[in-house]
Amino acid sequence: MTRGWAVVTGAGNGIGAVISRHAVKEGYRVAAWDVDAAGLEALAADLGPACVPTVVDVADEGSVAAAVAALPEAPSLLVNNAGIARFGPLLTIAAADWRAAVDVNLTGTFLVGRAVAARMIEAGGGAIVNMASINGIAAAPNAGAYTASKAGIVKLTEHMALEWSGHGVRVNCVAPGLINAGMSDAIYADEEVRRLRQARVPQGRLGTAEDVADAVLFLGSPKAGYISGQTLAVDGGITKTALASMPRPKSVDSVGVDEGAAAREGG
Ligand SMILES: NC(=O)c1ccc[n+]([C@@H]2O[C@H](COP(=O)([O-])OP(=O)(O)OC[C@H]3O[C@@H](n4cnc5c(N)ncnc54)[C@H](O)[C@@H]3O)[C@@H](O)[C@H]2O)c1
Repeated sequence: MTRGWAVVTGAGNGIGAVISRHAVKEGYRVAAWDVDAAGLEALAADLGPACVPTVVDVADEGSVAAAVAALPEAPSLLVNNAGIARFGPLLTIAAADWRAAVDVNLTGTFLVGRAVAARMIEAGGGAIVNMASINGIAAAPNAGAYTASKAGIVKLTEHMALEWSGHGVRVNCVAPGLINAGMSDAIYADEEVRRLRQARVPQGRLGTAEDVADAVLFLGSPKAGYISGQTLAVDGGITKTALASMPRPKSVDSVGVDEGAAAREGG
């Protein structure tokens, strides 16, 4: 069964390459976009004719416009996955690093999103999945620029859904947690950091690119047909258990005064 075209940005490496592979398995033809020509070449060699690689800079409006115009037909799925991380405390991070994170992650999602959505709307609809991060949900040390850009993607997703759902374009967001792939390879190469991070995850393991790809393809599929404007954390439970290590004295088993308790018990 052919499911039409899926545009995947940041497809040349890491999670985007795995999303592209899963998409081809599910019957999509993939327009694979990235700034990394060598990464795209390797992906295309692996996926064969179902994958059409194009060098695109998602932060450059002209580059995006040319790639969208060259699509043979309106895509049924867009995965706005391209992203970079720049770390540093807000007091000292270089403005250029802040701008790079916001340009690629947030502005790139906006530029590709609206250009592809216009084609989808003309064709009667489609689905968009934006890639945030649990950094877009909760702050982490030295990640202010990345966190702000990813939180922006969460809210941009809601706005895209507000403006485009009525035109048949569903828009959702995936927020991966601690993923042992792609840009985090260098982090998890440190065994001690890996052990400490893994211990924080309620499921007791790091996530994989496949975990993320499964969620993306679900949200892009008709099975998610009544879901729009949502952010789905793929994180083994970590963001919803932020209070897991909060201490409380054993002697305290209730707090707060219930003025109505006596009256209810009495009758
Ligand atoms: N790996 C993780 O731990 C993790 C966790 C949460 C979220 N994410 C998000 O998942 C997405 C994929 O990350 P990854 O781990 O696969 O990283 P990665 O670095 O392996 O892949 C990112 C890809 O984006 C491409 N890219 C960068 N700038 C671009 C631009 N201007 N235009 C087009 N392509 C560009 C890169 O060339 C690269 O191929 C990112 O949005 C990232 O923020 C990753």
